[in-house]
Amino acid sequence: MNSLRPTVLLLGATGYVGRHLAERLDAEGYRVRAVVRDKARACAPGAWGSPSLASHVAEWIVARDAAEANRDGALMEGVDHVVSALGVTRQKAEPWDVDFLMNLAYLELAEKRDVASFLYVGVMHADAGTSMLSRSKLAFMEALRRSSVAPQIVNPSGYFSDLTEIYDLARRGLAAGLGDGSVRLSPIHGADLAEFCVAKLPGGAGTWDVGGPEVLTYREIVDLAFEAAGRTPRYLAVPGGVGSAAIWFADRLGPRRASLTRFFLEGMRTDSVGQPTGTRTLRDYYASLRD
Ligand SMILES: NC(=O)c1ccc[n+]([C@@H]2O[C@H](COP(=O)([O-])OP(=O)(O)OC[C@H]3O[C@@H](n4cnc5c(N)ncnc54)[C@H](OP(=O)(O)O)[C@@H]3O)[C@@H](O)[C@H]2O)c1
Repeated sequence: MNSLRPTVLLLGATGYVGRHLAERLDAEGYRVRAVVRDKARACAPGAWGSPSLASHVAEWIVARDAAEANRDGALMEGVDHVVSALGVTRQKAEPWDVDFLMNLAYLELAEKRDVASFLYVGVMHADAGTSMLSRSKLAFMEALRRSSVAPQIVNPSGYFSDLTEIYDLARRGLAAGLGDGSVRLSPIHGADLAEFCVAKLPGGAGTWDVGGPEVLTYREIVDLAFEAAGRTPRYLAVPGGVGSAAIWFADRLGPRRASLTRFFLEGMRTDSVGQPTGTRTLRDYYASLRD
């Protein structure tokens, strides 16, 4: 163990962004202490080209939540920074329990141990969203802003990982979107986002909206997916009213479906463009899926 390396406690390490964060932290000379639910899964390669954690984590904490992770009271010992990409995406869990309460439990442990900063990967427009996902993330951001630990909040545009679904639709020959698809995004690769986050660690508190190097309309993303799939673009323009009906319907199918539907449809109605960063393009990413 090299005690000269600053230690980062990494939360959400097994996710798409978490894996890229571990790789980047390690490359930049940080010592990574990662909380994971399943070490064997963590050591296997991740989805969408994200790396195995095996060679990037110096210290493993296998736990399901903050209390278990801190069972010996030593979780935050020697920790200089906390970095969290912990949040519900495809997991069967309530965003309030994970995005808000679980992150808050880790923050409270950090506050007791004089950790210098807590960097949180949030989402753009959380203050305008009506989904439980947006509300849970906003609640945590508000708690973090009032913390004694320097808050660093990074709100990314859509990830390449999520936009893989459009490529999968294109391969099947038909993609759909709300209206004419003119909403604008600046999609970002996990490695570019990780590079941005890790560069912020030594600086102070701040909030950043961040995107990849290009601004694209949803329709342009669809066209890139069809181009990579080698198929003629076929786009189904779903009228806005159908989106509202889908929200009405999802609200009656239970809280999880309601949250996901609202989050997805609100995302398709609002531009998500952040400060440009990184070099990786969606065209190259889609090409890598084809190869
Ligand atoms: N996808 C996008 O386009 C996008 C855009 C902006 C912001 N974001 C946000 O960025 C963050 C990271 O996204 P991502 O794509 O990297 O997500 P991801 O791949 O699903 O990773 C989420 C991480 O949180 C952990 N987690 C989830 N539920 C948990 C639970 N109940 N108990 C313990 N751990 C739990 C996961 O652990 P396991 O691996 O064990 O499940 C994983 O390590 C999320 O908060 C997401 O909402 C996403």
